[in-house]
Amino acid sequence: MNKVVWDMDPGIDDALALILALKSPEVRVVGITTVAGNAPVEMTSVNACRVLEYLGAANIPVARGAAHPLNRPLEDALSYHGSDGLGNCGLPMPLTSLHPLKAWDFLVRSVLDAPGEVTLVATGPLTNVASAFKLQPKLPELLARLVLMGGAYSLTPYGKGNRTTFAEFNIWEDPEAAHMVFNSGVDIFAVGLDVTMDPSTCLSNQHLEQIRDRNTKAVRLAAQLVEYEVKYHGCCRMHDPLALAVLLDDSLLDFTLAKVEVVKGNNWDRGITRILPSDNLQLIHVASAVDGHRFLKLFLSRILEE
Ligand code: BDR
Ligand code: CA
Repeated sequence: MNKVVWDMDPGIDDALALILALKSPEVRVVGITTVAGNAPVEMTSVNACRVLEYLGAANIPVARGAAHPLNRPLEDALSYHGSDGLGNCGLPMPLTSLHPLKAWDFLVRSVLDAPGEVTLVATGPLTNVASAFKLQPKLPELLARLVLMGGAYSLTPYGKGNRTTFAEFNIWEDPEAAHMVFNSGVDIFAVGLDVTMDPSTCLSNQHLEQIRDRNTKAVRLAAQLVEYEVKYHGCCRMHDPLALAVLLDDSLLDFTLAKVEVVKGNNWDRGITRILPSDNLQLIHVASAVDGHRFLKLFLSRILEE
Protein backbone atom coordinates (compact mmCIF):
# COMPACT_ATOMS: atom_id res chain seq x y z
CA MET A 1 0.00 0.00 0.00
CA ASN A 2 1.44 3.37 -1.05
CA LYS A 3 0.73 6.32 1.19
CA VAL A 4 0.36 9.12 -1.33
CA VAL A 5 0.41 12.88 -1.14
CA TRP A 6 -0.47 14.25 -4.55
CA ASP A 7 0.34 17.59 -6.12
CA MET A 8 -1.94 18.20 -9.11
CA ASP A 9 -3.52 20.76 -11.47
CA PRO A 10 -6.85 19.25 -12.54
CA GLY A 11 -7.18 19.18 -15.59
CA ILE A 12 -9.00 16.34 -17.38
CA ASP A 13 -6.22 13.76 -17.10
CA ASP A 14 -5.42 14.68 -13.47
CA ALA A 15 -9.11 14.05 -12.69
CA LEU A 16 -9.05 10.71 -14.52
CA ALA A 17 -5.95 9.75 -12.53
CA LEU A 18 -7.70 10.72 -9.30
CA ILE A 19 -10.73 8.58 -10.15
CA LEU A 20 -8.34 5.69 -10.86
CA ALA A 21 -6.56 6.21 -7.54
CA LEU A 22 -9.79 6.30 -5.54
CA LYS A 23 -10.74 2.92 -7.07
CA SER A 24 -7.36 1.30 -6.44
CA PRO A 25 -6.42 -0.58 -3.25
CA GLU A 26 -2.68 -0.15 -3.92
CA VAL A 27 -2.79 3.54 -3.02
CA ARG A 28 -4.15 5.57 -0.15
CA VAL A 29 -4.31 9.27 -0.99
CA VAL A 30 -3.79 11.08 2.32
CA GLY A 31 -3.72 14.61 0.93
CA ILE A 32 -3.84 16.69 -2.20
CA THR A 33 -2.04 19.93 -2.93
CA THR A 34 -3.02 22.03 -5.90
CA VAL A 35 -0.92 24.12 -8.24
CA ALA A 36 -1.50 26.51 -11.10
CA GLY A 37 -0.96 24.78 -14.42
CA ASN A 38 -3.77 23.59 -16.65
CA ALA A 39 -5.90 26.26 -14.95
CA PRO A 40 -5.44 29.02 -12.37
CA VAL A 41 -4.90 27.63 -8.88
CA GLU A 42 -8.34 28.72 -7.62
CA MET A 43 -9.84 26.55 -10.35
CA THR A 44 -7.52 23.55 -9.91
CA SER A 45 -8.32 23.63 -6.18
CA VAL A 46 -12.06 23.79 -6.77
CA ASN A 47 -11.74 21.00 -9.34
CA ALA A 48 -9.90 18.69 -6.96
CA CYS A 49 -12.66 19.29 -4.37
CA ARG A 50 -15.43 18.84 -6.96
CA VAL A 51 -14.11 15.42 -7.96
CA LEU A 52 -13.50 14.29 -4.37
CA GLU A 53 -16.95 15.38 -3.20
CA TYR A 54 -18.73 13.82 -6.14
CA LEU A 55 -16.99 10.51 -5.48
CA GLY A 56 -17.62 10.60 -1.73
CA ALA A 57 -13.98 11.26 -0.80
CA ALA A 58 -14.31 14.78 0.62
CA ASN A 59 -12.46 13.60 3.73
CA ILE A 60 -9.19 13.85 1.76
CA PRO A 61 -7.74 17.30 2.54
CA VAL A 62 -6.93 19.71 -0.29
CA ALA A 63 -4.31 22.43 0.33
CA ARG A 64 -3.94 25.22 -2.18
CA GLY A 65 -0.52 26.12 -3.52
CA ALA A 66 1.20 28.44 -5.95
CA ALA A 67 -0.79 30.81 -8.16
CA HIS A 68 2.01 31.03 -10.72
CA PRO A 69 5.38 29.44 -11.53
CA LEU A 70 8.44 30.51 -9.49
CA ASN A 71 9.75 33.19 -11.87
CA ARG A 72 7.01 33.94 -14.37
CA PRO A 73 3.27 34.37 -14.91
CA LEU A 74 1.04 31.36 -15.52
CA GLU A 75 0.17 30.34 -19.08
CA ASP A 76 -2.71 27.94 -18.54
CA ALA A 77 -4.08 25.20 -20.81
CA LEU A 78 -7.81 25.95 -20.53
CA SER A 79 -8.05 26.00 -24.30
CA TYR A 80 -7.30 22.27 -24.13
CA HIS A 81 -9.15 21.27 -20.95
CA GLY A 82 -12.30 23.41 -21.36
CA SER A 83 -13.29 26.65 -19.66
CA ASP A 84 -13.81 24.97 -16.24
CA GLY A 85 -10.62 22.91 -16.61
CA LEU A 86 -12.67 19.70 -16.56
CA GLY A 87 -14.21 19.56 -20.01
CA ASN A 88 -17.27 21.54 -18.87
CA CYS A 89 -18.45 18.43 -17.05
CA GLY A 90 -21.08 20.23 -14.95
CA LEU A 91 -20.00 18.86 -11.55
CA PRO A 92 -21.46 20.95 -8.72
CA MET A 93 -19.30 23.49 -6.92
CA PRO A 94 -17.77 22.02 -3.73
CA LEU A 95 -19.15 22.59 -0.26
CA THR A 96 -15.97 21.61 1.62
CA SER A 97 -13.32 24.20 2.51
CA LEU A 98 -9.69 24.00 1.62
CA HIS A 99 -7.12 22.91 4.22
CA PRO A 100 -5.83 25.90 6.21
CA LEU A 101 -2.16 25.17 5.37
CA LYS A 102 -0.52 26.30 2.14
CA ALA A 103 0.53 23.46 -0.14
CA TRP A 104 4.27 23.59 0.72
CA ASP A 105 3.58 23.63 4.46
CA PHE A 106 1.16 20.75 4.00
CA LEU A 107 3.77 18.78 2.03
CA VAL A 108 6.47 19.41 4.62
CA ARG A 109 4.21 18.45 7.51
CA SER A 110 2.90 15.28 5.82
CA VAL A 111 6.43 14.03 5.17
CA LEU A 112 7.88 14.98 8.56
CA ASP A 113 4.96 13.20 10.25
CA ALA A 114 5.81 9.95 8.43
CA PRO A 115 9.48 10.02 7.38
CA GLY A 116 10.31 7.53 4.62
CA GLU A 117 6.68 6.51 4.17
CA VAL A 118 5.18 9.08 1.81
CA THR A 119 5.23 8.74 -1.96
CA LEU A 120 4.80 12.13 -3.57
CA VAL A 121 2.94 12.04 -6.87
CA ALA A 122 3.21 15.21 -8.98
CA THR A 123 1.09 15.63 -12.09
CA GLY A 124 1.38 19.38 -12.62
CA PRO A 125 4.16 21.96 -12.81
CA LEU A 126 6.65 21.38 -9.98
CA THR A 127 6.25 24.80 -8.30
CA ASN A 128 4.81 23.55 -4.99
CA VAL A 129 7.26 20.66 -4.79
CA ALA A 130 10.25 22.97 -5.33
CA SER A 131 8.89 25.40 -2.73
CA ALA A 132 8.49 22.60 -0.19
CA PHE A 133 12.04 21.33 -0.88
CA LYS A 134 13.36 24.86 -0.41
CA LEU A 135 11.47 25.23 2.85
CA GLN A 136 12.68 21.90 4.24
CA PRO A 137 15.88 20.73 2.48
CA LYS A 138 15.65 17.30 4.18
CA LEU A 139 12.39 16.54 2.35
CA PRO A 140 13.96 14.82 -0.70
CA GLU A 141 15.66 12.21 1.48
CA LEU A 142 12.60 11.76 3.71
CA LEU A 143 10.29 10.91 0.81
CA ALA A 144 9.87 7.27 -0.24
CA ARG A 145 10.02 8.57 -3.82
CA LEU A 146 8.64 11.14 -6.23
CA VAL A 147 6.58 9.84 -9.14
CA LEU A 148 5.92 12.58 -11.64
CA MET A 149 4.34 13.18 -15.01
CA GLY A 150 6.69 15.42 -16.93
CA GLY A 151 9.28 15.73 -19.64
CA ALA A 152 10.06 14.40 -23.10
CA TYR A 153 13.28 12.41 -23.31
CA SER A 154 13.63 11.22 -26.93
CA LEU A 155 13.63 7.62 -25.72
CA THR A 156 10.82 6.61 -28.07
CA PRO A 157 9.44 8.14 -31.29
CA TYR A 158 6.82 9.88 -29.09
CA GLY A 159 9.27 11.62 -26.77
CA LYS A 160 8.96 15.04 -28.37
CA GLY A 161 7.37 18.19 -26.98
CA ASN A 162 3.68 18.98 -26.61
CA ARG A 163 3.90 22.61 -25.41
CA THR A 164 6.75 23.50 -27.76
CA THR A 165 8.43 21.34 -30.36
CA PHE A 166 10.77 19.95 -27.72
CA ALA A 167 9.28 20.64 -24.29
CA GLU A 168 6.50 18.98 -22.31
CA PHE A 169 3.86 21.22 -20.64
CA ASN A 170 4.48 20.56 -16.91
CA ILE A 171 8.23 21.10 -17.19
CA TRP A 172 7.90 24.01 -19.64
CA GLU A 173 5.43 25.80 -17.36
CA ASP A 174 7.93 26.04 -14.50
CA PRO A 175 11.39 24.98 -15.68
CA GLU A 176 13.13 26.63 -12.70
CA ALA A 177 11.08 24.51 -10.29
CA ALA A 178 11.71 21.38 -12.35
CA HIS A 179 15.45 22.12 -12.44
CA MET A 180 15.54 22.38 -8.67
CA VAL A 181 13.54 19.18 -8.13
CA PHE A 182 15.53 17.15 -10.69
CA ASN A 183 18.72 18.11 -8.82
CA SER A 184 17.39 17.70 -5.28
CA GLY A 185 18.49 14.13 -4.63
CA VAL A 186 14.93 12.79 -4.34
CA ASP A 187 14.38 9.38 -5.92
CA ILE A 188 12.50 10.32 -9.12
CA PHE A 189 10.36 8.17 -11.42
CA ALA A 190 9.54 10.41 -14.40
CA VAL A 191 6.74 9.41 -16.74
CA GLY A 192 7.05 11.58 -19.83
CA LEU A 193 5.61 11.95 -23.30
CA ASP A 194 7.81 9.08 -24.53
CA VAL A 195 5.20 6.76 -23.06
CA THR A 196 2.12 8.94 -22.56
CA MET A 197 1.98 9.87 -26.25
CA ASP A 198 2.29 6.22 -27.25
CA PRO A 199 -0.92 5.68 -29.25
CA SER A 200 -1.55 2.38 -27.45
CA THR A 201 -2.31 4.31 -24.23
CA CYS A 202 -4.97 6.56 -25.71
CA LEU A 203 -8.70 6.17 -25.01
CA SER A 204 -10.96 6.34 -28.05
CA ASN A 205 -14.68 6.25 -28.85
CA GLN A 206 -14.45 2.48 -28.91
CA HIS A 207 -13.35 2.40 -25.27
CA LEU A 208 -16.05 4.90 -24.43
CA GLU A 209 -18.65 2.47 -25.77
CA GLN A 210 -17.45 -0.12 -23.24
CA ILE A 211 -18.19 2.12 -20.26
CA ARG A 212 -21.12 4.26 -21.42
CA ASP A 213 -23.94 1.96 -20.37
CA ARG A 214 -22.67 1.63 -16.76
CA ASN A 215 -24.22 3.99 -14.31
CA THR A 216 -21.93 4.51 -11.35
CA LYS A 217 -20.71 7.99 -10.45
CA ALA A 218 -17.08 7.16 -11.23
CA VAL A 219 -17.95 5.80 -14.66
CA ARG A 220 -20.30 8.68 -15.48
CA LEU A 221 -17.65 11.27 -14.62
CA ALA A 222 -14.84 9.41 -16.39
CA ALA A 223 -17.01 8.98 -19.50
CA GLN A 224 -17.81 12.68 -19.59
CA LEU A 225 -14.17 13.69 -19.26
CA VAL A 226 -13.05 11.22 -21.89
CA GLU A 227 -15.87 12.20 -24.23
CA TYR A 228 -14.88 15.87 -24.13
CA GLU A 229 -11.26 15.12 -24.98
CA VAL A 230 -12.13 12.64 -27.72
CA LYS A 231 -14.57 15.13 -29.24
CA TYR A 232 -12.14 18.06 -29.32
CA HIS A 233 -8.77 16.34 -29.59
CA GLY A 234 -9.46 13.04 -31.37
CA CYS A 235 -8.54 10.73 -28.49
CA CYS A 236 -8.11 11.01 -24.73
CA ARG A 237 -4.47 11.17 -23.60
CA MET A 238 -3.74 9.41 -20.33
CA HIS A 239 -0.66 11.37 -19.22
CA ASP A 240 -1.40 11.60 -15.49
CA PRO A 241 -3.13 8.20 -15.08
CA LEU A 242 0.06 6.63 -16.48
CA ALA A 243 2.12 8.24 -13.71
CA LEU A 244 -0.31 6.88 -11.12
CA ALA A 245 -0.10 3.45 -12.79
CA VAL A 246 3.52 3.15 -11.62
CA LEU A 247 2.09 2.61 -8.14
CA LEU A 248 -0.58 0.15 -9.24
CA ASP A 249 1.45 -2.32 -11.30
CA ASP A 250 5.16 -1.73 -11.76
CA SER A 251 5.30 -4.15 -14.67
CA LEU A 252 3.27 -1.80 -16.92
CA LEU A 253 6.19 0.54 -17.60
CA ASP A 254 9.92 0.08 -18.19
CA PHE A 255 12.32 2.60 -16.71
CA THR A 256 15.82 3.46 -17.66
CA LEU A 257 18.28 5.20 -15.33
CA ALA A 258 19.48 8.46 -16.84
CA LYS A 259 21.00 11.83 -16.00
CA VAL A 260 18.66 14.58 -17.08
CA GLU A 261 19.32 18.26 -17.65
CA VAL A 262 16.32 20.59 -17.39
CA VAL A 263 16.72 23.76 -19.46
CA LYS A 264 15.70 26.86 -17.51
CA GLY A 265 15.04 30.35 -18.84
CA ASN A 266 12.85 31.65 -21.59
CA ASN A 267 14.63 30.83 -24.84
CA TRP A 268 13.50 28.44 -27.56
CA ASP A 269 14.83 25.53 -25.49
CA ARG A 270 12.87 26.39 -22.30
CA GLY A 271 11.70 23.28 -20.49
CA ILE A 272 13.60 20.72 -22.53
CA THR A 273 14.53 17.59 -20.55
CA ARG A 274 17.75 16.33 -22.08
CA ILE A 275 19.51 13.07 -21.23
CA LEU A 276 23.22 13.89 -20.83
CA PRO A 277 26.20 11.90 -19.55
CA SER A 278 27.21 14.72 -17.18
CA ASP A 279 28.88 14.17 -13.80
CA ASN A 280 26.92 17.04 -12.26
CA LEU A 281 23.48 15.56 -12.79
CA GLN A 282 21.58 13.12 -10.62
CA LEU A 283 20.36 9.79 -11.92
CA ILE A 284 16.62 9.49 -12.30
CA HIS A 285 14.33 6.73 -13.52
CA VAL A 286 12.81 7.71 -16.87
CA ALA A 287 9.93 5.76 -18.40
CA SER A 288 11.05 4.26 -21.70
CA ALA A 289 8.30 1.81 -22.67
CA VAL A 290 4.70 1.01 -21.75
CA ASP A 291 2.32 -1.89 -22.20
CA GLY A 292 -0.56 0.34 -23.34
CA HIS A 293 -3.02 -2.48 -23.84
CA ARG A 294 -2.60 -3.79 -20.28
CA PHE A 295 -2.65 -0.27 -18.88
CA LEU A 296 -5.97 0.59 -20.54
CA LYS A 297 -7.40 -2.75 -19.45
CA LEU A 298 -6.44 -1.98 -15.87
CA PHE A 299 -7.83 1.56 -16.07
CA LEU A 300 -11.17 0.45 -17.50
CA SER A 301 -11.59 -2.48 -15.13
CA ARG A 302 -10.84 -0.29 -12.11
CA ILE A 303 -13.29 2.45 -12.99
CA LEU A 304 -15.96 -0.15 -13.83
CA GLU A 305 -15.65 -1.81 -10.42
CA GLU A 306 -18.71 -1.13 -8.26
C1 BDR B 1 0.67 17.22 -18.74
O1 BDR B 1 0.25 18.56 -18.95
C2 BDR B 1 -1.05 18.76 -18.50
O2 BDR B 1 -1.81 19.47 -19.43
C3 BDR B 1 -1.63 17.40 -18.22
O3 BDR B 1 -2.52 17.46 -17.12
C4 BDR B 1 -0.42 16.56 -17.91
O4 BDR B 1 -0.09 16.60 -16.55
C5 BDR B 1 0.94 16.58 -20.07
O5 BDR B 1 1.95 17.26 -20.75
CA1 CA C 1 -1.67 17.49 -14.92
